[in-house]
Amino acid sequence: MPGTSTRSSKPSPVCRSPPKRASAPAHDGVAHLRCLEVRRSHRARPRRYAVSLLVLEDAAFGFGARPLWSGLSWTVAEGERWALLGPNGAGKSTLLAVLAGTIGLDAGKRRTRSGLRIAAVGQRLDLDPDVTALDAVVAAAPGRTELVERCARLEARLEAADAPDAEVASLLSDLAAAHEALAHLDQRFAPHRAARILDGLGLAPAMQARRVGELSGGMAMRVALAACLFAEPDLLLLDEPTNHLDVDSVRWLASYLPRHRAAQIVVTHDLEFAERVADHVASFEPEGIRLFAGPPSAYRKARALEAETLERRARNEARKRREAERFVERFRAKASKARAVRSRVRALERMEASAASTLQDAARGATFRFAAAAPSGRVPVRLEGVAKGYGGPPVLHGLDLAVVRGQKIGIVGRNGAGKTTLVRLLAGELEPDEGRIVREPKVKLAFFAQHHADALAPDPTVLDTARAFAPNVSETRLRAALGAVGLGADDVDKQVRVLSGGERARLALACRMVVPANTLVLDEPTNHLDAEAAEALAHAVAAHEGTVVFVSHHLDFLRRAANVIWLVGDGRVEVHPGTFDDFEARLRQEPAPGASGTPVPRRSQARADGRAHGRRVRAMRDRRKKLAARLATIEAELERAQRAVEAAAEAVASAGTSGSPERIGELGRAYEAARAELQRVEAAWIETTEAIEALDEALAGDSSVSAGT
Ligand SMILES: Nc1ncnc2c1ncn2[C@@H]1O[C@H](COP(=O)(O)OP(=O)(O)OP(=O)(O)O)[C@@H](O)[C@H]1O
Ligand SMILES: [Mg+2]
Repeated sequence: MPGTSTRSSKPSPVCRSPPKRASAPAHDGVAHLRCLEVRRSHRARPRRYAVSLLVLEDAAFGFGARPLWSGLSWTVAEGERWALLGPNGAGKSTLLAVLAGTIGLDAGKRRTRSGLRIAAVGQRLDLDPDVTALDAVVAAAPGRTELVERCARLEARLEAADAPDAEVASLLSDLAAAHEALAHLDQRFAPHRAARILDGLGLAPAMQARRVGELSGGMAMRVALAACLFAEPDLLLLDEPTNHLDVDSVRWLASYLPRHRAAQIVVTHDLEFAERVADHVASFEPEGIRLFAGPPSAYRKARALEAETLERRARNEARKRREAERFVERFRAKASKARAVRSRVRALERMEASAASTLQDAARGATFRFAAAAPSGRVPVRLEGVAKGYGGPPVLHGLDLAVVRGQKIGIVGRNGAGKTTLVRLLAGELEPDEGRIVREPKVKLAFFAQHHADALAPDPTVLDTARAFAPNVSETRLRAALGAVGLGADDVDKQVRVLSGGERARLALACRMVVPANTLVLDEPTNHLDAEAAEALAHAVAAHEGTVVFVSHHLDFLRRAANVIWLVGDGRVEVHPGTFDDFEARLRQEPAPGASGTPVPRRSQARADGRAHGRRVRAMRDRRKKLAARLATIEAELERAQRAVEAAAEAVASAGTSGSPERIGELGRAYEAARAELQRVEAAWIETTEAIEALDEALAGDSSVSAGT
């Protein structure tokens, strides 16, 4: 195994840093594995300048009988940027907590450089909802909260002071010192610097003055990040920082982090992001945590090479074992071969002890399948003249939109654009300020949002939570659904409070999956899910018989799942029929400056957008014309096919009493053929009519785009 021993054929549980390894001949295939050693990458600073910030020595940790890792020796040095990778529930957040010092180890040691400043953004944000965004960041100045509390305590004691002058004088002097320290701190960690960081993260001054509790998920994440960056840490620990962030913000963060002076450990399921921010990898694998000095792509290559080497070795060993077994079998009884047989038996025993292993996939599988209810009507939900705000200017206004049965609508737009407000309106969690929302009577709606996963009661177990959510579903089915999303027998009795972010999201999704629905509304459903689970969810959405409306910043998910895109921006919604690839291709033809990925048109682009809008409408009208012509032909065919069926039925009826059996059989076949043809033409008719109706809806929706955008 890399970094430990090259003689053992088994990968050891962890790759230690620095590696202690026996030298190995370069020709034994193990040479490849050296690339998994911990060594400095070309991007990192030379070793002699790198100061160790944090060291884990032979560290082990687990919950109860289940070890999350053991024998981990890891040195994080100045300037290093680590991607911490691994499937849901592997122990990434727990490891971050150990590194931060908030959880102690079961065995081994954690050492830090003296005075090391660590700042962390957790997977679930714990910001005070009642302070303003700016105050939340200013409060993150190291030691500020303690100083403010100290001042308050001293002031209270002074007010209550019924004490001798000497004590009052001493309190006054302490208070003066505390105020001075605070002033000093405020000079170094000045509010205007906090404001600048927030500004850089896309929170304009008006937004900085808003209460954290009023901000969208993406905006709250930016505030937490800004607070971290403001504290000028030596080591930054970020747990899935791209959850909730829109495409632009992810790009911004990916370019910002490598320029920040702090060493970093970033948990992420987004490999593209990991590649941009990390020059080191720590990865949870079935055999343990692997450490690698190089970017994630190089790690993947090295691991693939290692898997190949190990597989080759396992094959060789199996062959040798078979040969030895055959030899023993054949010559066991021959006295002349007794020595040779003994030596083969010993060799076989050695082989058993060190059976070569192969690398397995660490991810716990997930299969999502939403139970389908009887179909809804053709337009399950319609918005008519809808406006919605939260006291200030409306977030959304003038919306006339129709969700058409069978559509998989991907809602995109910048953080704070109003996507969550839109889906909460669709799902009936919010009422519009103006206009109305019409739900078709047969609609059975299931709504999943991040706040549902966050709001799960912490005390009940996984199984009890599912039971409470779906009391009419049998326990066998509940267990099966939980197992399918990766919450197996080991997990169903866990209390919700101990679940990892991904496990919690899987539970909340499983709860929605078991209740039959024909209209699914999902708000950022892939947050916290590992790559494999996100892909499985995309398949489930695409395969769902009903209608799905979902918000996502996850490009791969959008590509796989959506067949219509709604772009939210400037309070309006633009409807783009077609896949996310079509949408992106259209954007490339009609680039909208200022917002890549999921751009929102700006007023300054009004004319260009107006032209693009005009082109789109013309294209849709052209297509509608062609479809209408096709429909006329199909209707004529339909008449013919209907007449043919009637004639064939009559022929069968009149031959019924007089015809020969052969003749009746012949007529019967002709009747079946006529019916099949009628069915074919009917299907074409339905398909064309629906396509025309969808275009009509899209044209109506498109006219909801403000001419001013
Ligand atoms: N207090 C606890 N008692 C028992 N098990 C726990 C406790 N806390 C966490 N776990 C379990 O430990 C495992 C690791 O959790 P952790 O949150 O570290 O995973 P993670 O790798 O961050 O996953 P994700 O990608 O889903 O965020 C999970 O299976 C979780 O259920
Ligand atoms: Mg986690």
